[in-house]
Amino acid sequence: MAKRGEKIIWRPSKPQSIETLIGKNLFEKPIYTFKRAALIADASLPTSLIETVQASFRAQLFLFSGGEKAKTRETKQKLEDQLMEAGFGKDSSIVSLGGGVTSDLAGFLAATYMRGVELILIPTSLLAMVDAAFGGKCGVNTPFGKNLIGATYLPKTIYVDLNFLATLSEREKRCGLAEVIKYGLIQDLSIWKLLKKKPLPLDALIPRSIQCKLNIAGADPLEKGLRRILNFGHTVAHALESLSNYSIPHGEAVALGLIAESALSHRLGHLSQKAFQEIKTLIEGFSYPLKLPSNFSSAFLRDAMRLDKKSKGGAPRFVQIDRIGRAVSFAGDYCRSAPKKELEALIAWLKKNYG
Ligand SMILES: NC(=O)c1ccc[n+]([C@@H]2O[C@H](COP(=O)([O-])OP(=O)(O)OC[C@H]3O[C@@H](n4cnc5c(N)ncnc54)[C@H](O)[C@@H]3O)[C@@H](O)[C@H]2O)c1
Repeated sequence: MAKRGEKIIWRPSKPQSIETLIGKNLFEKPIYTFKRAALIADASLPTSLIETVQASFRAQLFLFSGGEKAKTRETKQKLEDQLMEAGFGKDSSIVSLGGGVTSDLAGFLAATYMRGVELILIPTSLLAMVDAAFGGKCGVNTPFGKNLIGATYLPKTIYVDLNFLATLSEREKRCGLAEVIKYGLIQDLSIWKLLKKKPLPLDALIPRSIQCKLNIAGADPLEKGLRRILNFGHTVAHALESLSNYSIPHGEAVALGLIAESALSHRLGHLSQKAFQEIKTLIEGFSYPLKLPSNFSSAFLRDAMRLDKKSKGGAPRFVQIDRIGRAVSFAGDYCRSAPKKELEALIAWLKKNYG
């Protein structure tokens, strides 16, 4: 039997502390929260997975339909009404079971229900295990855009059960992997080295990725500088997602965004040709579709990139790396705009290679 779990304890700011348990079979024994537990779960998850967690917490189950389209104020309101109807009070514990959609939704629900109740996160997708469940951001989408209403709310405990990945589709795994690749590029060379191993050592990559996100988010909780490096690859990725009307999944857009922004780092003289080639080869080796949206045009991409949250004075700014495992500081800003002609050249290169 696998061990109950490796424990990483992160204390972002006193007196709060977040206990993170990573391991296998984390729910084979009862877990005591000493509160009445409401399990908010993505209904598309395998039934056995939901039942295991429900039994371990002796929780009352609240299902929602899952998927990005369900991450709305309406779904949150419906769940709130169900919780109130079932008599859940301030001494409740909200247990989130699912991918990033669920942790964002249930996290926001916990932040506002009775002005804040205990939150426990159980990420089940690779993306949520290495990214969405960590850092405290939560929220919902609106017709005006993604994640526009939300909060920063820290969970009490996060359980990462590596067994849960067994039922995740290969496509979803690849999507989560794009963020792991990002950590290797911006901060942790040991992640990069592990990414070259076959079969991919996910059991080792996941704790390292979590530690990477916690180090960065913990060092800059208000996103004033360093935390921007988590956005590497994302200026281009968000623009591609928006151009494709979100038909390109986030992780696939990030994979192409990482190649594009590494190419830009090279064009701007920070990254060597050899390192750039190594990055391109590794990412292409993971069989992402790496295809620009059919309605792609340079004007569209430029416009979409201007909407990025790092933009300044209408110009997109990019995180850059000067070697694999290190982002450039730019006097603590961690992003910089690129000359127009370099952006044009990058867009032409993208069209030629991935159009
Ligand atoms: N708060 C943050 O810091 C943060 C960071 C990154 C992403 N996000 C958010 O995360 C969301 C994307 O997360 P996601 O990719 O996990 O999406 P998701 O929650 O929709 O999960 C992806 C798909 O995988 C399925 N799934 C999840 N776990 C499974 C399992 N163990 N077995 C079988 N199927 C499983 C889900 O049902 C879903 O169909 C977006 O809404 C994004 O905005 C938030």
